[in-house]
Amino acid sequence: MIVLGIETSCDETAAAVVRRDADGRGTILADVVASQIEDHAEYGGVVPEIAARAHVEVLDGIVARALAEAGVAFADLDGIAATAGPGLIGGVIVGLMTGKAIASVTKKPFVAVNHLEGHALTARLTDAVPFPYLLLLVSGGHTQILEVAGVGRYRRLGTTIDDALGEAFDKTAKLLGLSYPGGPAVERAAAGGNAARFDLPRPLFDRDGFDFSFSGLKTAVRLDAEKIAPLSDADVADVCASFQAAVCDVVGRKVERALAAFAAGAGAGRPPTLVVAGGVAANKAIRGRLEEVAARRGARLVAPPMRLCTDNGAMIAWAGAERLALGIRDGLDTAPRARWPLDELSAD
Ligand code: KG4
Ligand code: ZN
Repeated sequence: MIVLGIETSCDETAAAVVRRDADGRGTILADVVASQIEDHAEYGGVVPEIAARAHVEVLDGIVARALAEAGVAFADLDGIAATAGPGLIGGVIVGLMTGKAIASVTKKPFVAVNHLEGHALTARLTDAVPFPYLLLLVSGGHTQILEVAGVGRYRRLGTTIDDALGEAFDKTAKLLGLSYPGGPAVERAAAGGNAARFDLPRPLFDRDGFDFSFSGLKTAVRLDAEKIAPLSDADVADVCASFQAAVCDVVGRKVERALAAFAAGAGAGRPPTLVVAGGVAANKAIRGRLEEVAARRGARLVAPPMRLCTDNGAMIAWAGAERLALGIRDGLDTAPRARWPLDELSAD
């Protein structure tokens, strides 16, 4: 089965062609991503209107390139998948309408994909991970711990009660005068810093449950930074290292407890698998902490390659292929959605 996937929910315009074999194995035939980072850099964050317009300008060319690189024509496709949400609504409309138009003209099956499901299922494309597994999804818009029991079967164990983790990195970078996007900039600065210099809070560390909170941490960073302003490069490095250490402690703690709960429940009977996805999964300190946690719990850690952790079209094509393989398809009247929690899919 060969599926075209289209992703436009944030600041990446992406299209990919993925093949799913009858045994469930996946192969990426082409994966084209055009980042808009430069369009938004001067604003220090994604500007929705600029994003939507930029998607319109380049999406047709990106789709054409993906097909050409894969060496397939529209006629060779078995389905078209497009992100229908959640995300910035203007961008979602662009990709969804494009996907529907291609499906309509080619008379091929259409699948409206939940962006989060794309992230959630990527590990099955890259590593053929069997269900069930525990997923840590950490991106600019989302911070969730999920039990993934099957395609469309998700149970949310925890989420953030305020900022997403990537957002906390981005806001920390902005207040320290670092470049956008903030995650990589904070990680780079942290590499030369002293993580013990600032005693930052570990929000919800000892609280039951698996929820996160990052806005208090960000505020603590701001107050500490204001106390020592103006900051030297060495000061910035120390703040970043201290921030990243706090994040690692909190994420490691919550994931370890979730792994224990998963191993005792849905994942009982065999060594648990922990999958990490989303842009923040690029962070080496966080990955390192997750490796320690997984090793302590006898779990296998699966982290898709970096370019498949951040937003891309392959994850949407793959989620579409998994759904098509189960006989699921969507109508061309499917509406775009700004909000679309993953556990709602389970209720369908
Ligand atoms: O998944 P993604 O590409 O887009 C969505 O938000 O859906 O994630 C982008 C987020 C941004 O907040 C960015 O700062 C963060 O991932 N990020 C990182 C790193 N690389 C990207 N955060 C921490 N460390 C990194 N190395
Ligand atoms: Zn994403």
